[in-house]
Amino acid sequence: MATLVIRNGTIVTATDTFQADLLVENEKVVAISKNLSARAEREIDATGCYIFPGGIDAHTHLDLPFMGTSSSDDFETGTLAALHGGTTTIIDFAFQTVGKSLKEGLYEWHKKAEGKAAADYAFHVAVVDFNEKTRQEIKDLIEKEGVTSFKTFMAYKGALMIDDRQMIGLMNEVKKWGGIVTVHAENGDLADSLIQINRERGNKAPRFHALSRPEIVESEATGRAIDIAFAGQHPVYIVHMTCEGALNRVKEATKRNQRVLVETCIQYLLLDDSVYERPGFEGAKWVMSPPLRKPKDQEALWNGLEQGLVHVVATDHCPFCMKQKEMGKDDFSKIPNGAPGIENRMELLYSEGVEKGRISINKFVEVNCSNPAKIFGLYPQKGTIAVGSDADLVILDPRVEHTLTRETQHMNCDYSSYEGWRVKGKVKTVLLRGTVAIENGKALVGKGFGKYLKRKKFEHF
Ligand code: URP
Ligand code: ZN
Ligand code: ZN
Repeated sequence: MATLVIRNGTIVTATDTFQADLLVENEKVVAISKNLSARAEREIDATGCYIFPGGIDAHTHLDLPFMGTSSSDDFETGTLAALHGGTTTIIDFAFQTVGKSLKEGLYEWHKKAEGKAAADYAFHVAVVDFNEKTRQEIKDLIEKEGVTSFKTFMAYKGALMIDDRQMIGLMNEVKKWGGIVTVHAENGDLADSLIQINRERGNKAPRFHALSRPEIVESEATGRAIDIAFAGQHPVYIVHMTCEGALNRVKEATKRNQRVLVETCIQYLLLDDSVYERPGFEGAKWVMSPPLRKPKDQEALWNGLEQGLVHVVATDHCPFCMKQKEMGKDDFSKIPNGAPGIENRMELLYSEGVEKGRISINKFVEVNCSNPAKIFGLYPQKGTIAVGSDADLVILDPRVEHTLTRETQHMNCDYSSYEGWRVKGKVKTVLLRGTVAIENGKALVGKGFGKYLKRKKFEHF
């Protein structure tokens, strides 16, 4: 493998910011030093730019069959879009089908990704049918397949939802073998009853999606998941947290010295529920679960990042084109849930977080790169810049301003959640395992370049 040197950039990790040169060899960072004397086959000048570890998006849905259709990005388009935005690793969800084994779900997702993914990838397994048979699969999934995290749904009854008893059983089994359970925390019965009431009243527009899933739907389920985890002394990770009420349950738990791991997504930090008031069917673009909230919730999440209560910023990238969204034209409950974002997370969090002084540049790396790597067993191979780590590197030019539009995005979706959004700071060059994957907006790697990552067991975080 050819050697490569990056000179004159400012290297940023979760703890440090310093000027140094970087030498890359055989997919790894092999030296970090000021005025590195080594010569290489390829030299990149990063003067005026930041060098971040490759981003890790811990929550994506590529090629997901969902609500009668499939998410519009597959593993090729989705991971290429991710690379364009500085995300070099994704953790997607392999879904079990009710009545089938967990391994069948995992192997199905391997087939979707193998030979297609351009970025590195790993899988959480979504457990939708926990029983004696699936319980027995957990050990092998963790020890042989490198799947050390499992998602449960407290909502989507009749499709994905498990009950509390199953959650308890899964948490017990997963902890035994060194994994962690992640939770989609919404009270499914409460949401379903509000959906039914709205439909009966003839309330069919997209905004009723959000009105059927108010804050209490999420905060109740979050509190319940946290309590269940506490009862068994289990680690627990709450996915896509959106609101103050849910975060308050996390704060409450700290009083009994419980540590809850929390993920939010970029859209919950930046967008609010006013988008559902847009004319016609436009609000459908942001129909996702949980829905977008109020400015006070955004404030709570930003503060949560600062306070160390929110550990990860992901995307829950689950795009559907407008034609697909139109399945719910006359009934909000049939709008496929999800929105695009895999390409935008790093630049948006840099621009809105770091440039606007809401978070430090080291916090940016912590929540985008290091924490997802640590929690999900990829650290220090991924998630930091260090000698011996994979040379997954993002060179971002903070001087370049640009506008997010559907025309310029690489995600396979016919709208942008952030249409017209001005962003300060642009991803210029991306390296994945030492290979230049993106340069000045051009992809230099393609399908099949991405590797499956077997993950390590969950360690105390
Ligand atoms: O609306 C969402 N979040 N769609 C993706 C599935 C999920 O719940 O994460
Ligand atoms: Zn979810
Ligand atoms: Zn999701």
